[in-house]
Amino acid sequence: MKVDRRFVMAGAAALALPVPLRAEAATTLRAAAAARGIGFGTAIGARGFADPAYRALIERECAVVTPENAMKWPALCPGPDRWVFDDADRIVGWATRAGMAVRGHTLFWPRQDRLPGWVANYDFGTKPIAAADQMVGRHVVTVAKRYAGKVGSFDVVNEVIDPETGSYRDSVLAKASGNIARLVALAFQLAREAAPKAELAYNDYMDWGDGSARHRAGVLRLLEGLRKADIPIDALGIQAHVTAGGDAAAIARREREWRAFLDEVTGMGLKLVVTEFDVDDRDIAGPPGQRDRAVADYARAWSDVLLAYRPLTGFVTWGLSDRFSWLDGFRPRGDGQHKRGCPYDDQFRPKPMRDALVAAFGAGAAR
Ligand code: G3I
Repeated sequence: MKVDRRFVMAGAAALALPVPLRAEAATTLRAAAAARGIGFGTAIGARGFADPAYRALIERECAVVTPENAMKWPALCPGPDRWVFDDADRIVGWATRAGMAVRGHTLFWPRQDRLPGWVANYDFGTKPIAAADQMVGRHVVTVAKRYAGKVGSFDVVNEVIDPETGSYRDSVLAKASGNIARLVALAFQLAREAAPKAELAYNDYMDWGDGSARHRAGVLRLLEGLRKADIPIDALGIQAHVTAGGDAAAIARREREWRAFLDEVTGMGLKLVVTEFDVDDRDIAGPPGQRDRAVADYARAWSDVLLAYRPLTGFVTWGLSDRFSWLDGFRPRGDGQHKRGCPYDDQFRPKPMRDALVAAFGAGAAR
């Protein structure tokens, strides 16, 4: 049973017991973010979930968890009529018992290489539009209904915009439906019906980087289209797999363009959620301490911009410890060293990035 801390403190005060100064209570990431009305959290994958010390660290630091892979279409539905909910259920059950909210990631990820194999090779027959609607609709409704009331926020649609072109990505589903925008709209509508209380987000990795202008423009077009058609959407999920580096002038230019984008999004009445924050240090040379400093400074500069926006409701990192980060498998460092892009190192020791985030929350806009 989880004991409510408020009762423990109230009881201790009534008995005039010395209340231990919970040093970490005032300074956990969770508390620092909560003071600004923001839910801080992290993603957790299968390896991390199997480690009790890691789970304990997350319970201490986080108010929100996102299953890193367990709620994706290929994981939940590896065959046309095969459903495997065990891993996702376990994470949701644990989070709920520990008093943490859950982000559902993700109901519909229409990227060809992220579809279940059976979908990627599906024969959509003579009525492909209806078949695609039926396939996507069934998945969205089944998952959203199962986790309704347990998942507070869903990434309903993930990465449907091609960063190179700013247009919709191609896939078997785009071909079958003839217009993937229909399926995107359908996913949001069905998610709202199936989980009426959940926050519904579009999630993507457009960023402030110089190469991201087309991606940002494409995402804006998508959001405007959804708004115009009165499709239920509450938030933009900003993945934020950022890469440390660049001088002050470059950062200032990126920041201007990024703010213009965020202004447009919030101007549509949408909330913002940072959904997958980590800082890739592949371009940072030097000993670990030097890299950690650069990562922390970059994390601070990036977070300061987001934290100035009052509609920001959540801030989730893609892993809390370098031990379980996906970053090592993504464009490895030239020197073969492990990357150091999470708030805790691989021994679960806090790094400067953690302090930078606590400080950024402390300095963020009051709401
Ligand atoms: O679990 C299997 C294992 O049994 C098997 O032996 C191994 C062989 O390849 O694969 C393992 O599954 C891998 C899984 O990660 C767990 O490690 C998948 O192949 C691999 O594709 C999967 O990668 C995940 C990726 O999304 C694709 O789903 C990463 O862990 C995950 O961090 C990454 O997360 C994405 C977000 O969902 C969306 N935004 C970008 C972010 C980073 O790419």
